[in-house]
Amino acid sequence: MNAVTPALPAPIGLLAELTHRCPLRCPYCSNPLELDRRSAELDTATWQRVLTEAAGLGVLHVHLSGGEPTARQDIVDITRTCAELGLYSNLITSGVAGALDKLDALYEVGLDHVQLSVQAVEAANAERIGGLKNAQPQKFAFAERVTALGLPLTLNAVIHRGNIAEVPALIDLAVRLGAKRLEVAHTQYYGWAYVNRAALMPAKADVDRSIRTVEEARERLKGQLVIDLVVPDYYAKYPKACAGGWGRRLMNVTPTGKVLPCHAAETIPGLDFWYVQDRSLSEIWAESPAFRAYRGTEWMQEPCRSCDRREKDWGGCRCQALALAGDAKATDPACSLSPLHGKVQALAIAESALETAPDYQYRTIGGAPRVALPEGAPA
Ligand code: SF4
Ligand code: FES
Repeated sequence: MNAVTPALPAPIGLLAELTHRCPLRCPYCSNPLELDRRSAELDTATWQRVLTEAAGLGVLHVHLSGGEPTARQDIVDITRTCAELGLYSNLITSGVAGALDKLDALYEVGLDHVQLSVQAVEAANAERIGGLKNAQPQKFAFAERVTALGLPLTLNAVIHRGNIAEVPALIDLAVRLGAKRLEVAHTQYYGWAYVNRAALMPAKADVDRSIRTVEEARERLKGQLVIDLVVPDYYAKYPKACAGGWGRRLMNVTPTGKVLPCHAAETIPGLDFWYVQDRSLSEIWAESPAFRAYRGTEWMQEPCRSCDRREKDWGGCRCQALALAGDAKATDPACSLSPLHGKVQALAIAESALETAPDYQYRTIGGAPRVALPEGAPA
């Protein structure tokens, strides 16, 4: 079955957040502030059943993610199941701790692709951002083994005030490590990044320089390296189609089996999320109130409702609209047509101009940080 109904195409991707456990503590992590504990994680058989349902539903890609997915003892079994079902598997990993020890076995059972995070090029800076000493040599050894096995490698670098000067060096690093693709992904401010926004917000001039650097490198490295660029929302003219549009392309299954339309959806109060323990993936995709809440364009208010971009960006990000406008149905304030856009840009400029960036509030299991949230944060 490739579609739930003719009017509702199947999702193309499943983000399987296998665990929230992670050796790194990145201050921009997109996981929720309240991280799931190991004792509440889905077991192997349930994940295998979910993957079987995903394949039946028409999903093509499975992103094995976390946290750090190789922290799961059963990561090889889960990856083998993806291969047996014909699902393209992408391991989203930090490449540290036990990741390298499991890599050959993952390759042997049919892993298709590796996406490795890099926090910076300069080791001390990278390890400060990720909150883990000795991470950098482990990452480089991991990358070397990925390419030695002939697996396609993508490097993912989340860009912010603390590493934006390293964008040219990150491009050189991707070439040196034999990556086929580099994601220069300016921070998206939800999850832990929202808490750390004042520490992470780069200056507009630095953002513009990083974009020019990427554009120049794309020309220079044509045929060798593909560079994806995610521009920072707060300085954008139009928002991105978050998650490809709500309930249109992606399903996100959390470590405890909750199925979300995007990774920050739990921040929106009043949404009813269904669990894989209770319903099939196909039923959740078609009927879950959370997926139906902002699917399509019916829910939109002005200016989105009558905008000719409404089926391009689907009104931007619902979670960001809630965080910044206090209303998940509002136009994403990243959009220049939002009445709040000027305020959001002014906020970004003020934060990026702070002489000294605040300390990071590192991601940690065991509860949200005991700090005041920045202005505009939901209570
Ligand atoms: Fe997109 Fe809405 Fe802005 Fe139009 S008004 S560009 S639909 S966010
Ligand atoms: Fe939820 Fe963008 S993160 S819609």
